[in-house]
Amino acid sequence: MSQKKFHIVTFGCQMNVHDSQKISGVLTREGYSHAENAKDSDLIIFNTCSIRQKAEQKFFSDLGRIKSLKRKRPDLKIAVAGCIAQQMGERIFRRAPYVDFVFGPQNIHRITDLIQRKSSGIANDDNPEIADTDLPVLREKKGRAWVSIMYGCDNFCSYCIVPYTRGKERSRPSGNILEEIKGLSREGFKEVTLLGQNVNSYRSDINFAVLLKEINSISGIERIRFVTSHPRDLCEELISAISILDKVCEHIHLPLQSGSERILGLMNRGYTYDEYRKKVDSLRKSIQGISMTTDIITGFPGETEDDHKMTIKALEDIEFDGIFSFKFSPRPGTKAATMGCQVDDNVKSARLTEILRVQDSITLKLNKRLENSIQEVLVEGPGDADKDMLTGRSRSNKIVNFKGEGLSRGEVVDVKILRVRKHSLDGEAL
Ligand code: SAH
Ligand code: SF4
Ligand code: F3S
Repeated sequence: MSQKKFHIVTFGCQMNVHDSQKISGVLTREGYSHAENAKDSDLIIFNTCSIRQKAEQKFFSDLGRIKSLKRKRPDLKIAVAGCIAQQMGERIFRRAPYVDFVFGPQNIHRITDLIQRKSSGIANDDNPEIADTDLPVLREKKGRAWVSIMYGCDNFCSYCIVPYTRGKERSRPSGNILEEIKGLSREGFKEVTLLGQNVNSYRSDINFAVLLKEINSISGIERIRFVTSHPRDLCEELISAISILDKVCEHIHLPLQSGSERILGLMNRGYTYDEYRKKVDSLRKSIQGISMTTDIITGFPGETEDDHKMTIKALEDIEFDGIFSFKFSPRPGTKAATMGCQVDDNVKSARLTEILRVQDSITLKLNKRLENSIQEVLVEGPGDADKDMLTGRSRSNKIVNFKGEGLSRGEVVDVKILRVRKHSLDGEAL
């Protein structure tokens, strides 16, 4: 019998991309091999995201296209995983009867049972204990690796679907995390990114600052990153840990969401703009050259022109290195979806455009300061656009495209920055 093949399509955040590596790890253990194309595979998995309506629509249109493939090859199995699977459960079969399996992010360990079934099956329990089970991970060999340190979220920001799809917040025992990272170091990985919806509230036998300290002492690991930090839970102990620990990179992603006091309250974010601003000052004072990125939602219900101006002012005031900004998308089941005074889509678009314009010039201005500087870069491989160039990231998490002879993936090199662009830096290895 020839080896069975799987193909996986991933939507959404880094956590989902990492979950796809876990799904691939489990399937590889079960004897499957990975297929680049859907048409060459025996099992197609969609690992879905429901953070915004667009992500959901994209998935359903991709799923629709697979239908004809299934008609031609009835033995082809189709699985839906991830946040839409968790939320919709059985309803996915009703909407797309050609789907065979549905499983949520907390049930990845159960695919083995599902794929052995003759008939269709579902696994979307909310099961915090089992979610801590360590799963095999199939990683790309790019010198850097993701490591889950916590799962779920208890924050219930009023716009957000994540607490409903990823379950209650729980931290992975530090022993398991440290073991995994030591293993990664033995495999030659130099950089780890710790993943969680709210890493600052990591709490098991030790807290997040102590966890960073423990990881910092693992030999072979040269860089440590983490996402995402919640501004409310960012404390002085952590700021000081980041500044003292040599391997922790000088970059923080700290989602602000809005510059308006009132909107932050309606969002249930748990901090005021002033509090956020003070933490930024403290980070910049303690950590030389720290780069900062953020998320902004535009057109939250009830957002007035004045609220929007406060967000613009916040961007100008703080000067982030980069932002991710999104139009508010009402998610069924969340509080904000039914709030009054929903903002017209044209208004959301206009505000988003203005935010991006303002930010673009700030990003370029900050990048200009890096011209002629020397940046430490972890080589990730040849560039996407130009195969003669190498690409990687600086400690400050900026994409660096550069010329360099005889370098391979996973090496850490110094690069002189010769030219800057809006979303990347160009240079030459020293
Ligand atoms: N846990 C992280 C981020 C999770 S989602 C945090 O708390 O910051 C990533 C980003 O998507 C959020 O920061 C937010 O800006 C955006 N987002 C979440 N729900 C959204 C919605 N309903 N509409 C638009 N953007 C949303
Ligand atoms: Fe969503 Fe808020 Fe949790 Fe982030 S902290 S995942 S935005 S509920
Ligand atoms: Fe991530 Fe999307 Fe789920 S952002 S947590 S995959 S809803």
